[in-house]
Amino acid sequence: MTKEKLKELVSQLTLQEKLDMIHGNGIFATKGVERLGIPPFITSDGPRGVRKDFKNDSWTEIGFSYDSVSYLPCNSALAATWNRELAYATGKLLGKEARGRGKDMILAPGINIMRTPLCGRSFEYMGEDPYLISELVVPMVHGIEENDVSACIKHFAVNNQETRRLDVDVEVSERALREIYLPGFEAAVKKGKVNGIMGAYNKLQGTHCCHNAYLLNEILRMEWGFEGITISDRGGVHDTKEALINGLDMEMSATDNFSEYYMAAPILRLIENGEIDKKTAYAKIDEKVRHILHVMNNLHMLDGERCCGSYNDYGDKAVLRQAARESIVLLKNEKNILPLDKKKVKKLLVVGENANRQHAPGGGSAEIKALYEITPLMGLHMVLGGNTEIVYQPGYFNKDIGNIWAADKDNQSGQADSLATASAEAQKNTEEQKRYQQEMNEKYLQEALESAKDADAVIYVGGLTHDYDTEGQDRINMKLPYGQDRLISELLKVRPDMVVVLTAGSPIDMSAWIHAADTLVFSWYAGMEGGIALAEMLFGDVNPSGHLPETFPISEKNCPAVILGEFPGGDRVHYGEDIYVGYRYYDTFDIETAFPFGYGLSYTDFVMTGIRAEVLEDTTDNKCVKVDFDISNIGRRAGAALAQVYVADKYPRVQKPAKELKAFEKIYLEPGETREITMILEGDAFTYYDETSHGFKADAGSYMLLLAKNADEVVDITEIEFNCTSYRIS
Ligand code: BGC
Repeated sequence: MTKEKLKELVSQLTLQEKLDMIHGNGIFATKGVERLGIPPFITSDGPRGVRKDFKNDSWTEIGFSYDSVSYLPCNSALAATWNRELAYATGKLLGKEARGRGKDMILAPGINIMRTPLCGRSFEYMGEDPYLISELVVPMVHGIEENDVSACIKHFAVNNQETRRLDVDVEVSERALREIYLPGFEAAVKKGKVNGIMGAYNKLQGTHCCHNAYLLNEILRMEWGFEGITISDRGGVHDTKEALINGLDMEMSATDNFSEYYMAAPILRLIENGEIDKKTAYAKIDEKVRHILHVMNNLHMLDGERCCGSYNDYGDKAVLRQAARESIVLLKNEKNILPLDKKKVKKLLVVGENANRQHAPGGGSAEIKALYEITPLMGLHMVLGGNTEIVYQPGYFNKDIGNIWAADKDNQSGQADSLATASAEAQKNTEEQKRYQQEMNEKYLQEALESAKDADAVIYVGGLTHDYDTEGQDRINMKLPYGQDRLISELLKVRPDMVVVLTAGSPIDMSAWIHAADTLVFSWYAGMEGGIALAEMLFGDVNPSGHLPETFPISEKNCPAVILGEFPGGDRVHYGEDIYVGYRYYDTFDIETAFPFGYGLSYTDFVMTGIRAEVLEDTTDNKCVKVDFDISNIGRRAGAALAQVYVADKYPRVQKPAKELKAFEKIYLEPGETREITMILEGDAFTYYDETSHGFKADAGSYMLLLAKNADEVVDITEIEFNCTSYRIS
């Protein structure tokens, strides 16, 4: 449909019909206009698959069997793959299933920066680096939207904590906002051409993000040229006039008083009371409806040409398995205990509640009613078959602590209560709970120690659960819950060869036992195929290739948000660490970490050398510098290496991080194979945000290009003289 036709359609709508299109008329949907062939607009969560269905006007689950779906690895797991093709493939699967389930917009992916390891929703996001996020979100959006379904990147912007998420006011410099917190969104809009974006709950510089003119009108529409729908996080609107004027297109909330939503009847009252002139109000309403129709048109919702999608297709298993495999990060393998040998392990002891736990149903709005979920314990049975005896001991007692989402009362989602301000208090157990936990832990510990004596191998699978990695609350600290530190320490005393596997969506403080553990694996909430992918990796069918998308600090006390800024703050939170987020801080200020950004081991070894760079003369397409180097697999197994290229300004005229990631490539190599790799750096690899001119700028001068295995391990360096001053993606 042409723009003209869409305009004509708008002119045929009554005021009430228009209003019904710009606010929820159901928990997940707006109203359509049947007489003009405009369907309702149906949204659904979320980032790990298409959420189960609820009744239209309440948080009561429909409860039928049809809405079990594929459960995808969480976004932090996907980010750990550092694989653009997998981001595309999983996006494609998500979009296909969303469409197959009859949705128009999938409320995903989440791309907020991991400012602190304690953020409850880190598992829904893609780590700490704006470049990595940008590189993954674009193919993911493309994959989703190929299915005539809108993606909805969220939460725009600076939603970096759950504590007081509904009203905390974020104070951040313009430079940090532009360099750290916005690039993922900018890439999704400019390169991904995403159709939807969700406003965040919190405030930015005093105004709620869902009706923040600076974010929605100035940056998103005027600067970036966004043409799609801005949708509120549910219950994120607090003012009718601001929502009307400041760039919000669609209001969603968590309650059933739909006609009283801010962008419903209150708009009419505003006009009647003369608080806004009719002409302005009508023009704004029309603009919102135009954006919605524009997206409906893009998705073929108006012309009968729409693809129908499908879900739970047999072939999708392979994509999910591969994503899970590539997400697993091998953190330590000091004695080469891994991979374990199937033939030698006749009796295997598996300890830890996460070995036997399904994570899909937890986490908040990212919960999934999974078609199935292969746990690590099941995966180990599947991989080892009938010749190995597997003994399982829970090791620690995990009882659900009271987080707001855990309470699945009478079939109702915890989301019904999600507009109450969450607090971390729920993580503090009562004395009685603590006593019971201790008793059970003691019992389980003794049982595990006993079983450890005669096993050929011991695998520990612990970590966090969605009682901790969850929407609505942050963690209090990075410690392992349920007494796991003591359990791991005791087990390592009797079995120093124990393989420690941690399943979680965010970093963990391992200082209590890490010195004693030779073998350490980090696996995430890796989707329905996660357990088998882990078992394949532990027994050598798969060579690990995941790398951390975020720094693992030794403890949260070292984190820049705590040292230089504020976390969690009060009514207001000041981002005093500015641009020094994640490795930009640890690296520049030389702070020791547990594991650096980009870290991950393999069962083989790679050598990367001979970095050389050339400034390109022809700057069309913004291509700026060509970097070449050689990489060899010098081990005996095939595997994938991750080459990372960082840029460092040699004589910076303004404060800059020691180095910043500007290119990466995952390279698969057979044993003994050597390849020459070329990477192209675009102009913005050399820019920084200048608050005086309110724009990105690149200073002429000497820049070092660092070829690295991770943020702490630079293997080769070259230097260029760079004179271009105006590179920037337009
Ligand atoms: C979350 C969003 C989610 C929405 C809809 C909110 O609680 O913050 O991420 O998409 O609910 O369920």
